[in-house]
Amino acid sequence: MSILSRCYLSAFVIFLTLFFSVQPCISQDSEAGANLFKTNCASCHYLGPEEKKLIGPGLSDEIFEEYTQEWLYSWIRNSSEMIESGDKQAIAIYEEYNKAVMTAFPYFSDSDIDNILAYIKEGPVEEVITAVESAESIDGSGQNENLLYIVLALVLFNTVLLIYVKNILKDAAGIERIGFIGSALSWLKLNPSFIIFFSVLVVFSGMKGCWNSISKIGVAQHYQPEQPIAFSHQLHAGEQGIDCNYCHHSARESKHSGIPSANVCMNCHTYINEGRSEEGTKEINKIYAALGFDPNSKTYIPGYEQKPIEWVRIHNLPDLAYFNHSQHVNVAGLDCQTCHGPVEEMDVAYQYSKLTMGWCINCHRETELDTDNPYYHDLHDKWIDKYHGEEITVDMIGGRECAKCHY
Ligand code: HEC
Ligand code: HEC
Ligand code: HEC
Ligand code: HEC
Ligand code: HEC
Ligand code: HEC
Repeated sequence: MSILSRCYLSAFVIFLTLFFSVQPCISQDSEAGANLFKTNCASCHYLGPEEKKLIGPGLSDEIFEEYTQEWLYSWIRNSSEMIESGDKQAIAIYEEYNKAVMTAFPYFSDSDIDNILAYIKEGPVEEVITAVESAESIDGSGQNENLLYIVLALVLFNTVLLIYVKNILKDAAGIERIGFIGSALSWLKLNPSFIIFFSVLVVFSGMKGCWNSISKIGVAQHYQPEQPIAFSHQLHAGEQGIDCNYCHHSARESKHSGIPSANVCMNCHTYINEGRSEEGTKEINKIYAALGFDPNSKTYIPGYEQKPIEWVRIHNLPDLAYFNHSQHVNVAGLDCQTCHGPVEEMDVAYQYSKLTMGWCINCHRETELDTDNPYYHDLHDKWIDKYHGEEITVDMIGGRECAKCHY
């Protein structure tokens, strides 16, 4: 091996090692904290200002002004113990929250608590993102792109390094050097394979970008975001047999199907205060928290500022496409399940179909028109005449015309 390639190789290895060892430690603490917080605290605490109440107060960096580190450690490990020991601050917050008892976490290590506190300190990262964006990040295509940039950066870095080292060696040997750009060009001339490699990479990454944007909606298939309340269709629409229309009645009458407001939930949950488990009861309590309802006295707290439950949207066509529920549910007489799959078996709802243009058009090609329905009588008679009684599919009446689906 020549001196040159040895220099080159060791620099490459050093760079790689540095790169990968620095990477993971950037946000480890608050990431571990985020997981701990979500599994242990999020059912009772929002991340945010104290007024943003759930079962307990919202948690933000305010708590570090109010309490010492030590106080927080003991509180999180066992708040009841502190209250019994007569700690003034502990009693005050306990009274303020109507003596609701916070779960104890005696098994948490110091570093567990440090991580959670680091996460609280950092505050919420914007979590209400659109369905399509988050589906992409779930899909992991973002990560692949990062990898591509890393490879590109590495290639560039190495080229510059190579030229630099070569120049130093030339200096040492007393050979005249021809400037940075000049030597870069002459190096490239001697190494045409590099140009090919580089161009292929660029073209490939460009193509991948295009592909991602075209297939955006398809990527969202199986998208299953975590919802603010663990509402189960399996329990409500399946086991309890509640009709889809009870909650999504506008699917029959309008373009949108809509998500029921918390008041619809209260038709039943005014009386059903308990879930199947402690977890279930906590989830039901979140409906009350949104509306300011006190399940013990069965009254609404006067002057409470009600806030809508922020369900995360699952299905989302791009604006350029027009889709109308009533046309499909009412006029065509299709079951919800044809497009949404076995929703009554889903504990957590997800997107069942692709929702791509190809998906819409395929169905229009294959599906026969229901000419017995009470809508469009005259039109139907006209079509039956026109096609002499052969089966009429949606595309025969224009279900493949661009303007029907695109404004
Ligand atoms: C079962 C619900 C519940 C869970 C789970 C829970 N808390 Fe609490 N937390 C409360 C309640 C309620 C209060 C208000 C005091 C009281 O009534 O005991 C509170 C108070 C606090 C306070 C004091 C805040 C202030 O502004 O005074 C901190 C800090 C805190 N919790 C941290 C945590 C952390 C960290 C976790 C997770 C490891 C957690 N809590 C899990 C219910 C809960
Ligand atoms: C008790 C009320 C209730 C009933 C009954 C119900 N749903 Fe829902 N549905 C909801 C709520 C609340 C959401 C939003 C939370 C979620 O996505 O789980 C939702 C979400 C959905 C979504 C996803 C919406 C989106 O964000 O894109 C679909 C699709 C859906 N329901 C279809 C159905 C079908 C089909 C049935 C009948 C088999 C049904 N629902 C019965 C309350 C109900
Ligand atoms: C038609 C009546 C009805 C409506 C409307 C209704 N629920 Fe329920 N819900 C029930 C029944 C029944 C249970 C089961 C209670 C049990 O078995 O302990 C339940 C249980 C729950 C549970 C606890 C699940 C568990 O694991 O224990 C949650 C959370 C819940 N519902 C949320 C909602 C939300 C959110 C809405 C409004 C979008 C809603 N419900 C609307 C009847 C209803
Ligand atoms: C022909 C296919 C099809 C049928 C049948 C259908 N849906 Fe949808 N549904 C869709 C599409 C496509 C979207 C996305 C619409 C958008 O983003 O504009 C959607 C969205 C939804 C949403 C999200 C909120 C909204 O309005 O965008 C709910 C809830 C929903 N559907 C419930 C139902 C229910 C309940 C039924 C049965 C009564 C039903 N759907 C029947 C295709 C269908
Ligand atoms: C499961 C099959 C099915 C799927 C999937 C489907 N459609 Fe349809 N669509 C129908 C049927 C059946 C009709 C005919 C209704 C009628 O009798 O007028 C129809 C009619 C239409 C019409 C009216 C056509 C006309 O000539 O009047 C539009 C617009 C439309 N669909 C848009 C969409 C879009 C956009 C999607 C995809 C997001 C979609 N459809 C997915 C079955 C489907
Ligand atoms: C049955 C409904 C339907 C018909 C007919 C239809 N489209 Fe679409 N189209 C859609 C839907 C839904 C989307 C969004 C889904 C997607 O991006 O894959 C879409 C997306 C597109 C897009 C954007 C793709 C992107 O990058 O997001 C273009 C361009 C397009 N359609 C062109 C056409 C043309 C041209 C025609 C007529 C030959 C046509 N469409 C007919 C439903 C339809």
